Amino acid sequence: MRVLITGGTGLIGTALARRLTKVGFEVLVTGRRAPAVLPPGVSFIGWETERPLLPDAVRGASAVVHLVGETVAQRWTAEAKARMRASRVEGTRRLVETLAGCDQRPSTLVSASAIGIYGDRGDEWLTESSPPGDGFLAQLACEWEQAASRASELNIRVVPLRIGLVLDARGGALARMLPAFRLGLGAKLGGGRQWMSWIHLADLVELIVHILHQDRLSGPVNAVAPTPVTNAEFTRTLARTLRRPAVLSAPAPLLRLVFGEMAAVLLASQRVRPQAALQSGFRFRYPELAPALADLLGVRSG
Ligand SMILES: NC(=O)c1ccc[n+]([C@@H]2O[C@H](COP(=O)([O-])OP(=O)(O)OC[C@H]3O[C@@H](n4cnc5c(N)ncnc54)[C@H](OP(=O)(O)O)[C@@H]3O)[C@@H](O)[C@H]2O)c1
Repeated sequence: MRVLITGGTGLIGTALARRLTKVGFEVLVTGRRAPAVLPPGVSFIGWETERPLLPDAVRGASAVVHLVGETVAQRWTAEAKARMRASRVEGTRRLVETLAGCDQRPSTLVSASAIGIYGDRGDEWLTESSPPGDGFLAQLACEWEQAASRASELNIRVVPLRIGLVLDARGGALARMLPAFRLGLGAKLGGGRQWMSWIHLADLVELIVHILHQDRLSGPVNAVAPTPVTNAEFTRTLARTLRRPAVLSAPAPLLRLVFGEMAAVLLASQRVRPQAALQSGFRFRYPELAPALADLLGVRSG
């Protein structure tokens, strides 16, 4: 069986490609630049979302995992926001156009989305049936999911995957936090009361594999561990795992000054429950934060 992973050269795609080849899938990844090294059994095709996706990329694939997206971890200038939007919304439209032009289509499209769709929601528990929130990321995620859902008109099973904060020591948000925390300069953000819905990268990869095998699962799936934590608790737990103090706090106005509008990502509260994943029988290997961080940082838990 062949799986196409668009944006498969990034943090999530690289880990997923490795996992899928281990269980016998043939994997084709797309990216803008070819990576220096490809895992064994993985091939590469270039795709920049400003251009159509070549039909050769989807030909023979039984599933597509669509992960393309310009990073949101940058200053949100007008140009950066346009790139974030175009890579997701136009990119997804282009993918669906290519799928429409194929005679033998994949049966499944797992399409990245984000828990940013819920906006800033305080202490409210959020499930897949909660309405979307407000703000740039929420609006963007809605358009992104709508573009992906057009594939269901082609008889393709569509699963928008609302991904939370992905934890891995080699990339993404945790890797960016580690240098400061290792120096004992870890700080809670704003008041620290905002909820962070996180997921260990290994659980995210297993959840995608689970979805590929669950033919009857369709519609949005929250990709988060079942125990979100407040930012204050996250800060304490990470510092404790590294055996460093974390007594500082970064006030919200300072974060807005330094990061501009992007500070919304750090300050928004999303307390998300992985209802669809749990109901479909998925079991998390790392449901709690402390053991997840201990595993990622190679230290003993507790
Ligand atoms: N990591 C998280 O915590 C998180 C949380 C929520 C949602 N997500 C979503 O999950 C998806 C994958 O995340 P990730 O962490 O693996 O991201 P990543 O490491 O930044 O990888 C992004 C991938 O998309 C490709 N890409 C970016 N812009 C592109 C464009 N304009 N045209 C074609 N390809 C483009 C990149 O290729 P090049 O490297 O060649 O540029 C790379 O393969 C993203 O859509 C992201 O928004 C991630």
